Amino acid sequence: MDAIATQDLGKTYRSSLLRALPPSLDGLSLAVQENEVFGFLGRNGAGKTTTIKILSGLVRQTHGEAYIFGDSVRKRQARRHIGYLPENPYFYEYLTPRETLDFYGRLHGLGTRERTAEWDKLSDLLDLRDIASQRVREFSKGMRQRLGFAVALVGDPKVLILDEPMSGLDPLGRRSIRELILRMRDEKKTIFFSSHVLGDVEQICDRVGILVKGKLTSQGRIDELLGKQDSPVEVIVTGLAADVVAELESKALSTRVSEAGHHLTLQDVQTANEAVRVALAKGGSLVEFTQLKESLEDHFVKAQEVSP
Ligand SMILES: Nc1ncnc2c1ncn2[C@@H]1O[C@H](COP(=O)(O)OP(=O)(O)OP(=O)(O)O)[C@@H](O)[C@H]1O
Ligand SMILES: [Mg+2]
Repeated sequence: MDAIATQDLGKTYRSSLLRALPPSLDGLSLAVQENEVFGFLGRNGAGKTTTIKILSGLVRQTHGEAYIFGDSVRKRQARRHIGYLPENPYFYEYLTPRETLDFYGRLHGLGTRERTAEWDKLSDLLDLRDIASQRVREFSKGMRQRLGFAVALVGDPKVLILDEPMSGLDPLGRRSIRELILRMRDEKKTIFFSSHVLGDVEQICDRVGILVKGKLTSQGRIDELLGKQDSPVEVIVTGLAADVVAELESKALSTRVSEAGHHLTLQDVQTANEAVRVALAKGGSLVEFTQLKESLEDHFVKAQEVSP
């Protein structure tokens, strides 16, 4: 069973004058498998938070369906599978982290002993011990984010839904959240998170979806989306006679010369290998062999253009 599944999910907010606004989410269909890390990408206003709020049961969709482990998000049941980190986590500013987690533990119906065990586990995991008795109002952004993550983990949910978990964090803070996400994957959890920090997504996601103005324009494994299999290859060769260079250049998509040697961009790995074989057989040498991958950023930019 899919951990998260949506079918033709849509949301149209109403303005204060009840005028129909353009849809914020339009026909979203996606499936996230159990134990997968899924990155949900989109520019500001693309509809990421709207989707996440629907999945978490905070906003009601205007059409379509969404399920968490088979339970419709319209029903309360779906929520017991989920740990949710909001875009801007809200806390009771006068509570300490320990009191905060205790509060959420109670909401989850945990007894005293379970709440203590939960604190021991989560304060360790999120490094909250040193700030255990500080009030939340004194917290920096990074400390808040850690506490928010701990709150999402209370009750050991199977699915984590995180709205921009790395936003506003410094590089070390971002890395620690990335590591935490991978650790949660090792614990067999499913993680669905939104982001526009493409590097973070590229590093840890099994699959991504790109949302453009409320529509999913691209979805899949990163290596498939970026088409690594048949992307062009640049080879640099040296030590060849002019006629051999001319022969190789006739097979290349583009060529240039630098101090390193003759650069040939060839259509795919196979063509590049053939060129290298010819070059070596004619007494030349290979300096470099590089597959030119499209970056996730290039793909992200292209995905925006596809949209009407
Ligand atoms: N409560 C609301 N009432 C009316 N319109 C809303 C409401 N919430 C969101 N929207 C609109 O829905 C669209 C999608 O917003 P959403 O917050 O889902 O985007 P997002 O992808 O999370 O953006 P960001 O990266 O800035 O967080 C935007 O055009 C926004 O103005
Ligand atoms: Mg958002």
